[in-house]
Amino acid sequence: MPHSFSHFFLISLFLYTKCIAHRYTFTVKEVPYNKLCSTKKILTVNGQFPGPVLKVYKGDTIYVNVRNRASENITMHWHGVEQPRNPWSDGPEYITQCPIRPGSDFMYEVIFSIEDATVWWHAHSSWTRATVHGLIFIYPRPGTFLPFPKPDHEIPLVLGEWWKEDVREVVEQFIRTGADPNVSDALTINGHPGFLYPCSNSDTFELTVEKGKTYRIRMVNAAMNLIFFFSIAKHSLTVVAADGHYTKPLNATYITISPGQTLDVLLHADQNPKRTYYMAARAYHSSPVIRFNNSTTIGILRYISSSNAKTSSYPSLPNYNDTSAAFGFFTNIKSLYSGQVRVKISRRIISTVSLNLLACPNNSCQGPNGLRLAASMNNISFVTPNHVDILKAYYLHIKGVYGTRFPAFPPLVFNFTADDQPLILQTSRLATEVKMIKYGEAVETVFQGTSLGGGGIDHPMHLHGFSFYIVGFGFGNYNVTKDPSSNYNLKDPPYRNTATVPRNGWIAIRFIANNPGVWFMHCHFDRHLTWGMNVVFIVENGRGINQQMLPPPPDLPPCY
Ligand code: C2O
Ligand code: CU
Repeated sequence: MPHSFSHFFLISLFLYTKCIAHRYTFTVKEVPYNKLCSTKKILTVNGQFPGPVLKVYKGDTIYVNVRNRASENITMHWHGVEQPRNPWSDGPEYITQCPIRPGSDFMYEVIFSIEDATVWWHAHSSWTRATVHGLIFIYPRPGTFLPFPKPDHEIPLVLGEWWKEDVREVVEQFIRTGADPNVSDALTINGHPGFLYPCSNSDTFELTVEKGKTYRIRMVNAAMNLIFFFSIAKHSLTVVAADGHYTKPLNATYITISPGQTLDVLLHADQNPKRTYYMAARAYHSSPVIRFNNSTTIGILRYISSSNAKTSSYPSLPNYNDTSAAFGFFTNIKSLYSGQVRVKISRRIISTVSLNLLACPNNSCQGPNGLRLAASMNNISFVTPNHVDILKAYYLHIKGVYGTRFPAFPPLVFNFTADDQPLILQTSRLATEVKMIKYGEAVETVFQGTSLGGGGIDHPMHLHGFSFYIVGFGFGNYNVTKDPSSNYNLKDPPYRNTATVPRNGWIAIRFIANNPGVWFMHCHFDRHLTWGMNVVFIVENGRGINQQMLPPPPDLPPCY
């Protein structure tokens, strides 16, 4: 056998086994961080903010031991990882598990299957994900290839939001008062606010590049409540993957990214290396009445030779309320592959996504008119159980934890997107209702935004356990007889796990229910999640042994 071949074999075996670990320890603990001239303790994984990057090969299974050494409950979610047959390790608190209590541990088994490119992980208990999050890099299995030229370097880029106060206080306060939560104090790139904020000159993200090289930016929007526009001055970007699935290459001067979404973007370092260039992110926000953080986070792009460059350029970003810019980008994203979408569906679920107002004793709440803000799907504000999780209740047939009557159609049909809405429609119903789905069904879900609650706003809707095709999108009211035939793309729609419903518009998604388990679906704006814009899909077991949920792990955190 030729010498060099066996060497090559040994080296690749070495790379395969040594560079990628299959076991990780995540120690969740509080650590002081100083930003914007003030110090506070934040929840971190291993003391890092943003948290560590996980690196896996497509199809790997990894084990992450989460050790809670903090003073509050925690759970961990692997956002975009479908976890076939394994809802036990999916993470949302009181949906698939009870929380890991301070001082306790839980070993997550994270099963990768069809995911490529970039996904991420984050805490899934109250608002702990504000600082407990990180990226997951997925590589093609050895011997297989990327569908685009191999970039020279990889750059993790996490967009986030920072509050000067303890995030627990933000949550406690808006739940108590019924008002909107305090807006954050800064936006961040890899944890750095950037020099436009007070005391942040040295707290600015910097990326140094070499002329002629290509950089693969693996990015996530980890913010709690904001959709972002992002751009780099004078550099065009090429999107090659979204939410862990390859896309047709898309050249863009700016990108739009909703909370929960990931993008893989190629940056070509092809500009004058004697200058520096800024990158920037700020909000896309469609509501004229809801307050938001309208500040800008800046990072610096420097060429290796330009240490004393004198001129620098700012990128131009679309206006805050530029809906056609935001959705122009979303709809330009197309799946790399064509012909993957099931043309015939077996079930259509239509759900409104609304903001609501609930009564408050003596009108003493601090929402509009002394009322309490809420949010709903099909007019139900989801009430999260607080003793037993839904997965355990389902598995052990525990009664009284949830109902199975989530309606497949809005309970009241009205002009969902009218300028004025009668007061009577503002109120939602509090309940814990799930939707049961048979194994293997071809499901279409339509999300209909409404103008309730101050004229409405966009909603980045996320489904656990699946990726889905975003087959349709539009403004105004969805028309079940016209839109499927005239406004759908069944050829190469984007394949994602988080899709943004436009303000006073709709989107339609499709997936095959081939993953048995209990799967959370919710708005990825955490204030809407807290207010109840959630539902749970329970996909029943199929007949085959490979169509059934795996058995529960032995060390599941106890409920009490
Ligand atoms: Cu990214 Cu249910 O979450
Ligand atoms: Cu929402």
